[in-house]
Amino acid sequence: MVQTLSKSTRRPRPVRSKNKHLFAWLFIGILLLSVAVISYFVFERSRSPRIDPTDVAQVEMGKRIYAQACASCHGASLEGQANWQRRMPNGRLPAPPHDASGHTWHHPDEMLFQITKYGPAAYAAGYQGDMPAFEQRLTDVEIAASLAFIKSTWPAEIRAKQARIDADARRKQR
Ligand code: HEC
Repeated sequence: MVQTLSKSTRRPRPVRSKNKHLFAWLFIGILLLSVAVISYFVFERSRSPRIDPTDVAQVEMGKRIYAQACASCHGASLEGQANWQRRMPNGRLPAPPHDASGHTWHHPDEMLFQITKYGPAAYAAGYQGDMPAFEQRLTDVEIAASLAFIKSTWPAEIRAKQARIDADARRKQR
């Protein structure tokens, strides 16, 4: 009885070396899979929230945030400051309109989000301007909502143009 047991648990040598390779490949496989899973989550998390002008709840929240945080410079009707394309004596630009007459709609979603969160310096290091960074004052969800409200005020044609610009930028990013 004891003899048969010990015999059956003893493995032949060639199988062991085969197993060694198998474990090595399995290990590499698991390693690659973990890297893929981790980078997927890191990438997804670093993405900004969706900015959807057809989402009634998001637009409603954004309207409130716009009035509190943006209207003082960009105007209650998104009209911007007077002579917004001319630099002021201090070399800075006035706040541009966010309606169809401005150039906000020329930018993809991600860029609008980054400018609002980190200020224009997000795209030009050391840039001096009056657009504040809202990183400390608004959450990502609130920033996205304020932008969804801005978008919701655009005529359908402008909204469609910006959606194309946004889709192009996303395609290039991939
Ligand atoms: C203190 C004034 C001020 C406030 C408040 C402010 N902005 Fe601005 N914003 C500016 C100025 C000035 C610029 C132009 C910056 C430049 O080009 O130098 C600007 C530019 C922008 C741009 C870039 C537009 C483009 O066409 O390039 C976006 C987007 C923007 N603001 C969004 C917002 C949002 C959203 C809020 C509210 C959450 C907000 N801003 C609040 C002053 C302000």
